[in-house]
Amino acid sequence: MTQLASERFLHESIAGLTQTPKQLPCKYFYDQRGSQLFDQICETDDYYLTRTETAIMQQHAREMGECLGEGVMLVEFGSGSSIKTRYLLDQLIRPVAYVPVDISREHLHTSAEQISADYPTIEVLPTCADFTKPFPLPNPKQRPSHDAVYFPGSTIGNFQPDQAKQLLGSIAHMCGEQGGLLIGIDLRKDPEILERAYNDDQGVTAEFNLNLLHRMRKELGATIDVSSFEHHAFYNAEAGRIEIYLRSRVDQTIQLDGQTVQVEAGELIHTEYSHKYTIDGFAETAAEVGWTLRRSWTDENDYFAVLHLVVL
Ligand code: AVI
Repeated sequence: MTQLASERFLHESIAGLTQTPKQLPCKYFYDQRGSQLFDQICETDDYYLTRTETAIMQQHAREMGECLGEGVMLVEFGSGSSIKTRYLLDQLIRPVAYVPVDISREHLHTSAEQISADYPTIEVLPTCADFTKPFPLPNPKQRPSHDAVYFPGSTIGNFQPDQAKQLLGSIAHMCGEQGGLLIGIDLRKDPEILERAYNDDQGVTAEFNLNLLHRMRKELGATIDVSSFEHHAFYNAEAGRIEIYLRSRVDQTIQLDGQTVQVEAGELIHTEYSHKYTIDGFAETAAEVGWTLRRSWTDENDYFAVLHLVVL
């Protein structure tokens, strides 16, 4: 992390722990260890999201390519290792450019080089940016017929509804008229299945959550007894979301940059929301900021959906 990023981490941690109820931002889950743990979560039997979305992509990429249309510049938000994207790139019709956008520069460039080698006819323009804030799109050598954003993984679900709507609005603005959006969303379902996905048998999600405290110890010099916290995740049916917390087993204090934070036994520190949608509900929200739903694809259990929306 740069010094600035580290100062921001410190500032946001102090701000989150000194408010009521306490909270820590989920974006800090993803240091190297956190990203490894997230990859491991995706491979657990309980976390159905990744393999279900991948199967949808595998099965329907051809139709998605047709829907996205000829001569597109495809911009991927949070590209990571771009695995699901390959199904799409294989089926796009004479795409002009592929723009992977990710905040982690190293990871971005390594995977962009691989994509470039495997798709020599597509101009690959890696862009290191935080996609939650406006950023300029690169200029490809050839003029695209339109721009489309690919936003897989149901990452949109980790934003609060008003932030999600705002982000959808800024994507519409960025793509402009004729712009497209292909987005993965996790669907509402039996709460037992949802809760299992965030409380996996092997305890990987618990490790992932607790890693946030390990990071604060390592990077911010915080004094925290990590072993006295536990992972707590449940489905809030009314809000339609999984809520994730760190629960203190004992009364304790956390020391952070000269500040002392009191935590009571049983007290919860909120770390993440993961919103679950209906296709109609999501389309309605997206319509408020300029999107029209064109098509959707789901798996046989209706666990997950990939939606194609357009700006008319
Ligand atoms: C990245 N995001 C879509 C994951 C989710 O399912 O909300 C993050 C996650 N948190 C715990 N498990 C997975």
